[in-house]
Amino acid sequence: METSKYIWQNGNFVLWDDAKTHVLTHSLHYGAAAFEGIRSYLTPKGPAIFRLKEHFKRLFYSASVINMQLPYSLEELMAVTTELVARNELEECYIRPLAYYGYGKMGVNPVGAPVEITIACWPWGAYISHPIVDMKTNKYIRIPNSAAVADAKLTGNYLNSILGILQMQGSPYHETLFLDENNHIAEGPAENLFFVKDKILYTPKLGAILAGITRDTVMNIAKHIGLQVLETELYLKDAYAADEVFLTGTAIELMPVRSIDDKIIGNGEMGSITQQLQQMYLDIVHGKNNDFLHYLSVI
Ligand SMILES: Cc1ncc(COP(=O)(O)O)c(C=O)c1O
Repeated sequence: METSKYIWQNGNFVLWDDAKTHVLTHSLHYGAAAFEGIRSYLTPKGPAIFRLKEHFKRLFYSASVINMQLPYSLEELMAVTTELVARNELEECYIRPLAYYGYGKMGVNPVGAPVEITIACWPWGAYISHPIVDMKTNKYIRIPNSAAVADAKLTGNYLNSILGILQMQGSPYHETLFLDENNHIAEGPAENLFFVKDKILYTPKLGAILAGITRDTVMNIAKHIGLQVLETELYLKDAYAADEVFLTGTAIELMPVRSIDDKIIGNGEMGSITQQLQQMYLDIVHGKNNDFLHYLSVI
């Protein structure tokens, strides 16, 4: 991976190589840590962080699920993130806040373990290096809310994502798709899914999926251009028969899907609505759309 100069760790800007933690860090053992993935883009006004507040609100929500009290306010964390990107002099970067239970006690119960928080940022380009992806439904289902809190961005929930991704290793598929316990489409290991059918945009309803900030952005763009959006329960057969399918996520941005389970979607190329939404998304994050400038925190 690429690196940068500084990481913010528990109140201090430290050199990248000095941002260390103890091997008996509680969250390293039991997976109870809250995190975020944010991007900063170059805009005409300089680097700007996309939807910074929404990401930190989600971090506070995720932390609350594991009874974690963050020792900083939302405003303080937003301010240090902005300062970190500035100090690292990065035009564009990926930003990773992580709040975890630190060193000081063992045993699964985290109560009493110190809460630590770090924010790192570094240049990170394309998440998947294909312009259009082939997906395969996974043998694992997405974590149901009866087993965990599926809409919290907690490290432990990503074991499910990792198992799903590992299933695809050595296969021709670029990404996997999780269904839920009722065979409804859920999401990818790090992306939400949309499809277009007869000029209507469909996406799984919230509940047991991550409330993606890119998902929310895309729905707002769609409404802005008069496209109807339906958040509902969706079946695989509907996705197979869709005109267009695409994935959304901070890392992957807006990525067209060519096939699911070897069934070609539409004509196998990026559809026109996907293309329009992708272009608008890229314009918005780069500060080229005046209607969405409020999404940007200029450094
Ligand atoms: C499981 C999962 N779903 C969806 C997303 C997309 O969320 P966002 O658009 O906020 O990056 C992510 C990415 O963080 C994810 O990990």
